[in-house]
Amino acid sequence: MSDAIEIRCLQTIGERELQGLSDVLIDCVEGGASVSFMLPMTRAKAEAFWRNTGASVARGERIVLAAEDASGTIVGTAQVILAQPENQPHRGDLAKMLVHRRARRRGIGAALLVAAERSALDAGKTLLVLDTASDDAERLYARQGWQRCGVIPNYALLPDGRPCATTYFFKSLRD
Ligand SMILES: CC(C)(COP(=O)(O)OP(=O)(O)OC[C@H]1O[C@@H](n2cnc3c(N)ncnc32)[C@H](O)[C@@H]1OP(=O)(O)O)[C@@H](O)C(=O)NCCC(=O)NCCS
Repeated sequence: MSDAIEIRCLQTIGERELQGLSDVLIDCVEGGASVSFMLPMTRAKAEAFWRNTGASVARGERIVLAAEDASGTIVGTAQVILAQPENQPHRGDLAKMLVHRRARRRGIGAALLVAAERSALDAGKTLLVLDTASDDAERLYARQGWQRCGVIPNYALLPDGRPCATTYFFKSLRD
């Protein structure tokens, strides 16, 4: 990965972060990523999502990481959702792993994943779960030791409305 990339754990999502994270989310959805949103992907939808996410960070429910380039521009992000039912205090969900198309294939996704796992462990989590509809992401998770569980067909929609399957993965952080 480029030395110029820094992974930061966001304690708050201020206006600058809101714009940068929205840019990344809009770019990923417009690029076809199945990450909860449909086309047209408006800035209003993106900003509302990140404002809600910021409120959730403030409540201690999730960790949000941002990958920033040398100029401080956010080029990628990932989340660990900490808030779980009381019988799963050791589990977290990895979510919204997003890298802007212009910054891909430089190791930023891998660096975000390492940082997310470390942050989860620091927060007392020993098991992480995720699901993904992306082949690129599947290779990344498998390379980093995540265990593929299986596929649920017809799970969600791609941004253009076509149905897509999702693949579940988990990783024990004890190992
Ligand atoms: C999945 C995603 C986060 C990966 O991000 P990324 O920053 O491109 O990830 P990496 O750079 O670590 O790895 C991607 C590839 O680049 C390669 N790579 C990494 N550094 C490289 C370098 N310096 N030179 C050449 N190739 C490199 C990796 O080996 C990997 O190869 P692969 O395609 O054969 O698996 C990104 O594709 C994305 O945002 N997709 C859309 C959103 C999405 O679907 N997210 C998943 C939600 S679960």
